[in-house]
Amino acid sequence: MNAFTLLKADHKKVAGILEKIDETTERGVKTREELFTQLKTELDIHTRIEETIFYPALKDADETRDITLEAFEEHKVVKTLLGELESLGKDKEEWTAKFTVLKENIEHHVEEEEGEMFPKARKVLGEDGAETLGTRMEKAKGEQKAAAAS
Ligand SMILES: [Fe+2]
Ligand SMILES: [Fe+2]
Repeated sequence: MNAFTLLKADHKKVAGILEKIDETTERGVKTREELFTQLKTELDIHTRIEETIFYPALKDADETRDITLEAFEEHKVVKTLLGELESLGKDKEEWTAKFTVLKENIEHHVEEEEGEMFPKARKVLGEDGAETLGTRMEKAKGEQKAAAAS
């Protein structure tokens, strides 16, 4: 499995969930809660495989160091917002506003990964490196999904 194919498929899945949540309102609390739980699970797994497998492979190369360090920080912002959204009432206008900020943050982060980080990472990792990392991430995802379901 190619690392970029795997990560882009995750991004697409997350973008779909974000769009669905965006269509919910303060009156559709149950749907909101279900979709938010899905979003959190996907993001937990995705950020973890990036932080433990993908980013470490890029952190020490000159070409990808700065953008990787920036990505770690962007994950922290996203996690803070997710935590706040978790504890805030889904029927509140504030939740809707905060969700919009989360969505914008994630979209910006994905744009940077796909538009800037991945092209540089392709050079740093090479074909074989991208395959090896993809396979490792696929395996880690499977294990995390199994752990989350048990
Ligand atoms: Fe990321
Ligand atoms: Fe990502």
